[in-house]
Amino acid sequence: MAEIALTGVSKLYGGNAKTASTLIADGLDKATIFARTGCNVALRDIELTLPPGAITVIMGLSGSGKSTLLRCLIRLIDPTSGAIRFDGEDITRLNLKALRTFRRQHVGMVFQNFALLPHRTVLQNAAFGLTLHGVKRHEAEARGAAWLEKLGLGGYERAYADALSGGMRQRVGLARALACDTDVLLMDEAFSALDPLIRAELQDQLLGLQAELGKTIVFVTHDIHEALRLGAHIVVMRDGRIEQAAPPATLLAAPASDYVARFVAQTGGPAR
Ligand SMILES: Nc1ncnc2c1ncn2[C@@H]1O[C@H](COP(=O)(O)OP(=O)(O)OP(=O)(O)O)[C@@H](O)[C@H]1O
Ligand SMILES: [Mg+2]
Repeated sequence: MAEIALTGVSKLYGGNAKTASTLIADGLDKATIFARTGCNVALRDIELTLPPGAITVIMGLSGSGKSTLLRCLIRLIDPTSGAIRFDGEDITRLNLKALRTFRRQHVGMVFQNFALLPHRTVLQNAAFGLTLHGVKRHEAEARGAAWLEKLGLGGYERAYADALSGGMRQRVGLARALACDTDVLLMDEAFSALDPLIRAELQDQLLGLQAELGKTIVFVTHDIHEALRLGAHIVVMRDGRIEQAAPPATLLAAPASDYVARFVAQTGGPAR
């Protein structure tokens, strides 16, 4: 199980990053910094520890920095500054080769658009992460098939990915990630493209898998209902900052700001 800890993580895009950094230190807001420097502050001074073996949900409006934060965790986007530690090891110090090895051993990803290979079979897709990492085809497909079975796709192994419904495609996406047997799973709006009933089914399935496997899961969504359903911890982002990081019950009972309170209000109001 991996504990992921971020200290002082910032990500600035474009413009005059040096001046922008001083303005961040002065406490100016994102819009003002952009107006003065042309620099888009996607993340500013993130301090966050993600508990091992639990689902942490990153929530916030469009543009608040959720995907940037998720991608920074494994340096798919390199942060401008700060440290990202997995069980104490600062991965911002790894060279590219070591970084690739680290990702392969520790982290799986599930994407909103499923990112399957359309002209390959369900089984080839489920095994794809493993074959990519050099596991022999026979073994990769055996492991992929076991996960497909577990996710309710037994019998579909020979179907083509582009012949499946969205919910089934995302189960293949999950099987592909789980087959790699990593301790961390990153999921960016993984269920957002699915219709409500299928989405609820996949949420239940993810909760069941989590209870069984105890993986460290980081799940990005803009949906408060999904966040409350899935998250043991919820991180609410706003303009690149963390507005509140707390368990769902705390978020409901004691929102840290009006902004969080407005999210909570969508659920029918604070907990009694
Ligand atoms: N490659 C880039 N170049 C410049 N600015 C970027 C880039 N990627 C993201 N940004 C900016 O960084 C900020 C955070 O973007 P991010 O994609 O992380 O938001 P998000 O919360 O995931 O939004 P969404 O819900 O729409 O996916 C936004 O202001 C965005 O415009
Ligand atoms: Mg995003």
